[in-house]
Amino acid sequence: MTFSSIIRSTGSYLPQRVMKNAELEKIVETSDEWIFERTGIRERRIASEDEKTSDMAINAARAALERGGIKPQEIDGIIVATTTPDRTFPSVAVSVQKALDIPVGTAFDLQAVCSGFVYALSVADNFIKAGQLKRILVIGAEKMSAILDWTDRTTCVLFGDGAGAVVLEASLEKGRGILSTHLYADGRYKDILYTDGGPSTTGKSGHIVMLGREVFRQAVSRMAEVVEEALAENSMTAAEIDWLVPHQANIRIIEATAKKLNLPMEKVIVTVDRHGNTSAASIPLAFDEAMRTGRIKPGQTVLFEAMGGGLTWASALARL
Ligand code: UT7
Repeated sequence: MTFSSIIRSTGSYLPQRVMKNAELEKIVETSDEWIFERTGIRERRIASEDEKTSDMAINAARAALERGGIKPQEIDGIIVATTTPDRTFPSVAVSVQKALDIPVGTAFDLQAVCSGFVYALSVADNFIKAGQLKRILVIGAEKMSAILDWTDRTTCVLFGDGAGAVVLEASLEKGRGILSTHLYADGRYKDILYTDGGPSTTGKSGHIVMLGREVFRQAVSRMAEVVEEALAENSMTAAEIDWLVPHQANIRIIEATAKKLNLPMEKVIVTVDRHGNTSAASIPLAFDEAMRTGRIKPGQTVLFEAMGGGLTWASALARL
């Protein structure tokens, strides 16, 4: 039997606190104008001190279960893409499992930084296609504010917190669900975007360090490549794509990718203005918002693409 993995439902969660660019002007030497012009960001959400990545993941997962009318007992897998787990171990995934009363099954975290959600979607898709799992919660959740150096204006203005989730489900329908995924990494670039700490080095999680201009250059070319590859694999043209749901790092990167594909911005979901860069949470957050507001509709074709530390980059093409 060959299974397809269909996206059954989505959910997301954003912390209450909104941090506008004007607030950052008081913390570092920056301006609303610089941030907006260079990145497209107006504001981001910041989790409260006692709000953990798992709390956000649990809220997003609960929303996805509710929207899909899915009982916790029906879930047999949980994959959380995160760079900012509550603790070094155990995984955020087991906290989600416990909080939502999901029975004993497969649960783990996956680390591919901003590409994490697309990586997790691909791993879940392969579990389903192999017949090993039937219904998987795929979550992207991040508390990026916890690993920012709030004195470094080149990074602290860029990131935000939040979580998004989808439920991926085995189906015998053909031509629907995840049509293809492509995952890449190139460790030669590991030192252009990293944290300056970790369990086996400093014993602390460290803070984000980024050579922004170099990452930007790589992002534009890698994203275009991996998106072209997704189209070629499915013998599709960009015109046949209903929606592009890109990683939300910088509006200029998003626009450059859309332009390379000749895709009008009306077909691109943009949340970077309100969410900033939420790393692995950015795609499922944007996707859920577009699903809830009815912009993305059942039956449509959606292309996800991401790029982040590693460097890692990835795409997934889905028919809803
Ligand atoms: O999600 C993972 C992947 N990450 C990304 O995709 C991020 C990719 N990179 C970027 O989005 C952009 O490179 C940034 C938004 C990070 C920076 O934009 P940029 O146009 O590449 O600026 P830049 O780094 O070349 O800096 C230009 C100037 C510099 O001043 P000088 O050297 O020209 O005098 C910076 O010091 O802007 C200065 N600058 C700032 N000024 C005001 C850097 N950060 C700030 C700031 N406010 N926050």
